Amino acid sequence: MEQQKKALDEKKALNKETLGKEIKILGIESSCDETAAAVVVNGRQVLSNVISSQVELHAKYGGVVPELASRKHVENISLVVQEALDKAGLGIEEIDEIAVTYGPGLVGALLVGVSFAKGLSYTSGKPLKAVNHIEAHIAANFLEDSPLDPVKQPFISLVASGGHTHLVEVFVNENQDYPSCGALSYKIHGRTRDDAVGEAYDKVARALGLGYPGGPLIDKLSKEGSPSVLFPRVFLEEGSYDFSFSGIKSAVLNYLNKSTMTGIEINKADIAASFQDALLDVLTAKTITLCKSLRMNTLTLSGGVACNSSLRGRITALCQKNNITLHMPKPIYCTDNAAMVAACAYFTKGNSAKLQLNAVPSLKIQG
Ligand code: KG4
Ligand code: ZN
Repeated sequence: MEQQKKALDEKKALNKETLGKEIKILGIESSCDETAAAVVVNGRQVLSNVISSQVELHAKYGGVVPELASRKHVENISLVVQEALDKAGLGIEEIDEIAVTYGPGLVGALLVGVSFAKGLSYTSGKPLKAVNHIEAHIAANFLEDSPLDPVKQPFISLVASGGHTHLVEVFVNENQDYPSCGALSYKIHGRTRDDAVGEAYDKVARALGLGYPGGPLIDKLSKEGSPSVLFPRVFLEEGSYDFSFSGIKSAVLNYLNKSTMTGIEINKADIAASFQDALLDVLTAKTITLCKSLRMNTLTLSGGVACNSSLRGRITALCQKNNITLHMPKPIYCTDNAAMVAACAYFTKGNSAKLQLNAVPSLKIQG
């Protein structure tokens, strides 16, 4: 009890010190196939955002090859971090904190960012912050001129990416005293029970022979087709906000196999449009139903799949119809980047890390 009070007093003192001050955070991200670094002021103003994508390297294998990803991160990381500092016009001595993604993700890939950040923290004497990648996707919604203020309004966040599909309630934890920016708490209402939504896009795209990553290709192709094939909408048991996308994916694969066996010609654009229609019906319906059932009138949408033009259009229309205020980051902040990592470190101020920090590949979102 005594100790808790002391810790709270220390945090309050720290907040008084930092209130009204500019906090410049260097974010570092290497959880999958993007090596990224960014400098962000007070969790919003992006001074630089450097992303080195490995898409071309992995495309010929049809997906991310973990060992190749780690090696490429090692090659890139110091250049990417230096470029982020240069573009921000700052030296490391002018940075206040270093934030790094430590999970979830590919262990070898994560370790590159974590080790680099620890080394930089040690040599520069700057504090280190450990960031959860899923929470960082949520924090992308605070970037730039976003009016979203977690202190003023709790919100529902849909995170839809290649590795995750989460429906999360985000609010400021009143037990912690962070008046300068708030410390976020999360309550998970739904998550995928099998494939992540981006994973389903990528697998269906591969079956259609479109290439990798499949999401943007299905997005584009589906505009040329019509949703003429009825694939299943999997809603699971009543009242559940969990998702299951492996059924839709298998239905598409079965349809394609049957067509090959019977020699019936398929129209790829129609299949893409039909798959997307089924998947987005479920994703958007569950999201809006959750907002309504919790009487939450603010929704955010982020993660790589949030780049999808049809998803953006449908969710915008549904939010307008249901009086829900919608926030979506620009596409460049939806896919993996380090600006969201820096923003997350700012808004979840408590996550200080020591030099013992390790990568945690199956890290869960903090409840
Ligand atoms: O957030 P992200 O860059 O990495 C993870 O954390 O997973 O998301 C990558 C995923 C891939 O599955 C990719 O196919 C999907 O996001 N994606 C899209 C679109 N752009 C990227 N999915 C559907 N439509 C898009 N336009
Ligand atoms: Zn991601």
